[in-house]
Formats: sequence, structure tokens, C-alpha cells
Amino acid sequence: MSKVLKAGILTSGGDAPGMNAAIRALVRVSACFGHRVYGINHGYQGLWNGDYREITTKDVGGTINMGGTILGTSRFPDLLQFETVKKMSAKVKKYGFDVIYVIGGNGSLKGAIDLARCGTRSIVLPGSIDNDLPGSSYSIGSDTALNTILDAVDKIKDTASSHERAFLIEVMGRDSGYLAMMSAISGGADAAIIPERKFDIRKLVSFIKTRKKMGKKNTIIIVAEGAGSVEDLKAGLQGKIPYDVRIVILGHLQRGGSPTSFDRIMASRLARYAVESFDKGIYNILCGFHKEECVGIPFSSVKRLKPKDFSNDIKTIEYLAL
Ligand code: F6P
Repeated sequence: MSKVLKAGILTSGGDAPGMNAAIRALVRVSACFGHRVYGINHGYQGLWNGDYREITTKDVGGTINMGGTILGTSRFPDLLQFETVKKMSAKVKKYGFDVIYVIGGNGSLKGAIDLARCGTRSIVLPGSIDNDLPGSSYSIGSDTALNTILDAVDKIKDTASSHERAFLIEVMGRDSGYLAMMSAISGGADAAIIPERKFDIRKLVSFIKTRKKMGKKNTIIIVAEGAGSVEDLKAGLQGKIPYDVRIVILGHLQRGGSPTSFDRIMASRLARYAVESFDKGIYNILCGFHKEECVGIPFSSVKRLKPKDFSNDIKTIEYLAL
């Protein structure tokens, strides 16, 4: 009789809406293949502590619409030390996991790649509202977060127009301009300031003045948190533009909420692809989305991919704001 394969699932780093849809799909597809599945609590920290339990198809019932992650998550900076990576791999061997499904962002991916060097097999599903994992056009949670931001932008625009004010809206994105850029396009903002591209405050001031002369009643600027301080930007604009400036920091509300249909569907598809890959003996891959298809990018290739850059759309925003 062939051995029953044993899979662990963990969610790591910042939580993202749709992680539960991915867990649910991993558990249910695995069951169809006869694999046993274990939920590891609180990310790599839980793996380190041996904090896991078997989960069944029944356990994930009613979770597809839930935000957050039922497994809990954490950041585990100790994994940056190679000694910890080696010890962790030895623990995984002892636990008997044949694969660990890791749902998380770039830090979680790096952890999985390092663990693979010490013999731990894993498959990573991109889970981050920042949508900044290389090689995948999509990451779980990014659509919900974008819609949450859009809802806020629409509301802020109402009051901005009534008072004829400028609003600087800070959104998440430590290293990535995805949320800032896409919410600026979809929210009809006047500028997006992102970590990938330096911006020129004088050019911004003159752009805002031109718009004011055209009779525009508000100015909305979306600032990615990794692009610099909104307070400094406010200080640089106040008094130089013909609008009073206000700041809104959206913060962690961007990470919560029930996932959109898109996030639920994509999480389910990526999970199915991940389990099918593992069943075929394929692991140490990032399961991504590329040209409408699920793809498995080997960890060896992931390291050669360039970081994503959303600065191309700066022009889109400029043209549409006039
Ligand atoms: O990793 C995703 C992210 O949302 C970043 O954009 C943000 O900088 C970070 O998480 C915030 O993390 P924390 O909740 O640990 O403060």
C-alpha cells in the first residue's frame, strides 16, 4: 500500500482576505487526492513550536466568506538566520510533513526558499494585499483591499469637493505601489506617489494649480506608505497649492473584510493547482497567475525575477486627471 502523503498549511506575514478560501480549497482538494492535511497555527512561528492539528473538509465549512485567516499568522524574523532555517527543517522532517503549503507574501516566500535549501519541500501561494510577489500578476487579497480603498476614496471625494480641499490618502504598500496606483486609477485620483518612482513636488504643485484653474473642486493624492511620509508631503504642499490639505491614513482596515468573488475564485484556483502539482511530485514552486493561467515558478527561477514595478501607470493617472 502506498504511503498517505501528509501536508501542512500555514499562513504567514500580513493577513489577506481570501486566505481562508485558499485554506479551504487546499484542504478539500487534498482530501480528494487522499492526502492528510494539518493546519499550522500562526505561520512559521507555529511550525517552529510544533503547533499544528489535523484539519478536515468539515473544519473549513463556512469559511470561504471570512476575512483574516483561521490559522492565524505572524511574522517570524528568526527565519532570517540560517541556523534557525536548519533547525526548522530538521523539525519539519521529524513532524513528517511531505509538503508545507505556505500562503503569504515576499517574506514568507523567502522563508520557503531558504527552507528548501535544507530539504523542506513547500509550495507557496501568493497571499498579500500588496500584490508584489514576482512572477505572478495576482496575489490573494489584493482585489478585496483595492475595493476597500476605492470605497474610502469615493467617500473622501464627496467631502473633498464640498470643502474644495486636497486629501492625501495613505494606503498600504511598504515596497509596492500596486494599491496606490490601482486605487488612483479606479478612484479618479490626481496623483499616486509610489516607492518605485521618485516624484517631483514642484511638478505636482504646478499640476494641481493647473487643475484648479480648470475648475476642479478637489485634489486627491494616493500615497503608498513606502513612498515617504504623508506629513512631510502635506508640509510641502500646504500654502503652495490653492486647496487646504488634509490627511487620511487608511491603515489596517485595508487588510480586513470579506473577500471579493475574485479573491475567492483565484484563491480556490491557485490552491487546486498547488495540490495537483504536489500530487504529481512537483514542489518548491511559487504558484502564480500569468496570462490567465495558473503557473508553477520553481524557486530557482523566482530568485532571478525582477521586483514588480507599477510606475508605468503614472501617465495614465496624469492624462485622466486633466
Ligand atoms: O505585507 C503587507 C503589508 O500590508 C504592508 O503593505 C504593510 O507595510 C505591512 O503589511 C504592515 O504590517 P503590520 O500589520 O505587521 O504592521
